[in-house]
Amino acid sequence: MTNPIRLPAWAALEARAASVGSWSMRAMFEADPDRFRRFSLSLDGLLLDYSKNRIDSDTLGLLEALAVQAGLPQARDAMFAGERINVTENRPALHVALRNRSHRAMMVDGVDVMPKVRAVLDKMRDFSERVRSGEWRGATGKAIASVVNIGIGGSDLGPVMVTEALKPYQRPGLAARFISNVDGSHAAEVLRLCDPETTLFIVASKTFTTQETIANARTCRDWLVDKLGEAAIPRHFVALSTNAGAVAEFGIDTANMFEFWDWVGGRYSLWSAIGLSIAVAVGFERFEELLDGGFAMDEHFRTAPLAANMPVILALLGVWYGNFLGAGAYAVLPYDQYLHRLPAYLQQLDMESNGKGTARDGRPATWQTGQIVFGEPGTNGQHAFYQLIHQGTRLIPCDFLAAAQSHNPLGEHHLMLLSNVLAQSEALMKGRAEAEVRAELAAAGMDEAAIALHLPHRVFEGNRPSNTLLYRRLDPRTLGMLIAMYEHKVFVQGVVWDVYSFDQWGVELGKVLAKAVLADLKADTPPAGHDCSTTGLIEAIRGLRKS
Ligand code: F6P
Repeated sequence: MTNPIRLPAWAALEARAASVGSWSMRAMFEADPDRFRRFSLSLDGLLLDYSKNRIDSDTLGLLEALAVQAGLPQARDAMFAGERINVTENRPALHVALRNRSHRAMMVDGVDVMPKVRAVLDKMRDFSERVRSGEWRGATGKAIASVVNIGIGGSDLGPVMVTEALKPYQRPGLAARFISNVDGSHAAEVLRLCDPETTLFIVASKTFTTQETIANARTCRDWLVDKLGEAAIPRHFVALSTNAGAVAEFGIDTANMFEFWDWVGGRYSLWSAIGLSIAVAVGFERFEELLDGGFAMDEHFRTAPLAANMPVILALLGVWYGNFLGAGAYAVLPYDQYLHRLPAYLQQLDMESNGKGTARDGRPATWQTGQIVFGEPGTNGQHAFYQLIHQGTRLIPCDFLAAAQSHNPLGEHHLMLLSNVLAQSEALMKGRAEAEVRAELAAAGMDEAAIALHLPHRVFEGNRPSNTLLYRRLDPRTLGMLIAMYEHKVFVQGVVWDVYSFDQWGVELGKVLAKAVLADLKADTPPAGHDCSTTGLIEAIRGLRKS
């Protein structure tokens, strides 16, 4: 456990940033026609091109030295060995066991967890196949047509993102729907699309105490009971949780509960029973292919040298930009409509994991940790926020993702999409030099005064970094690789930043205060114990709700 700023490589990187951080990528490409080959990696059909970054071999060498000095190899081994690396919650973070497709044991406290993992997978297989085949029927004897996952955070974002990503693999006539927000409009709008006789609710909550999920589950239960009566519940409600007691108390038969364990973090849980909605939507075999992809990336992360390790390289590039070149955000830009929820998923994965201001020794982190993650699918983002990425005052590194083949080969759409993704990374890297713009404006017939006015606004500085992830087609295995790659990237950054990546204490305070505010919103007596802004807003809400 060492503060990164005390590591020798940190000082060396600071010095390097001062001298080479502004090196021109355009010049580096001109000087080295082999740059793409030298700075790209392939793994099972997934290509990572990281050549459009402000790096050279020496800088990468220093970043790798930083990772080694921060103890990355040991931390990685500790994670795979099931050690209690989630120190503040006193538990391992062993999501890699959920997708361990080998015969290797995965140990927690001296016990191999794989038999339990496989037993739950078998139960998921059996259940998802019964729902998909129509063998599992609702209380009135009809087959299931809507599966509604009720969960939030990791119990929602992973399943939503994956079911959306794998939509081409979904079976017609069986819709996967999601309710997460405590805003009643979310439940109301989803329930409007459902028929109680053919709807199966999957209540997904690791703790089974999350306010939003329990409120939504109660509303859905009332909706069902209102139409079909109490006796219908066992045919229409199943639970995914670590908390059998709370599941039973809610009224779901624990025979219809799919278990997982406290060593599965919420935002790492889509591979566990929390993935049941995925298995129902796309079929268990596809779910297994997703696990296969995750496992392939785990093996790569576990065994590849740091210099040829995709998650490690992505993580270290993020450290380079965030800690040495002043970037505070990065953009995830999937040129793949089916990945439209990937940025939202990565926001939780990244920002809930590494948004920490306290180092592992309990002292404030005086270096930047975490990153602001945002994004939209291409080309929509191009017509929204790319302006700032191209010409704004901030440095925003980007990850582009694209499939060579579309699931929907419509005319030239896919080639147009691909041309845009490549054009964007090229434009970000090359920019547009003053001489080029001047020549173009002059050719368009502008006089000197007009050129002087327009020139500075049309010059693109360029030198803006990006990675490109290219794959053949977005299939379950590739998706599994991509998700696991980002999980490990976040892990590596947490190690370098010396923070605990697997807790989330920062979200607790709001949950506690929300309970007190709820009581005050319901009461008639003057709100007490709040600041005057909160008190004023509570009173305003009370007034507006009466009008
Ligand atoms: O937002 C905090 C959090 O604990 C997340 O980490 C988690 O994914 C989410 O709430 C949902 O928790 P649960 O699955 O216990 O309902």
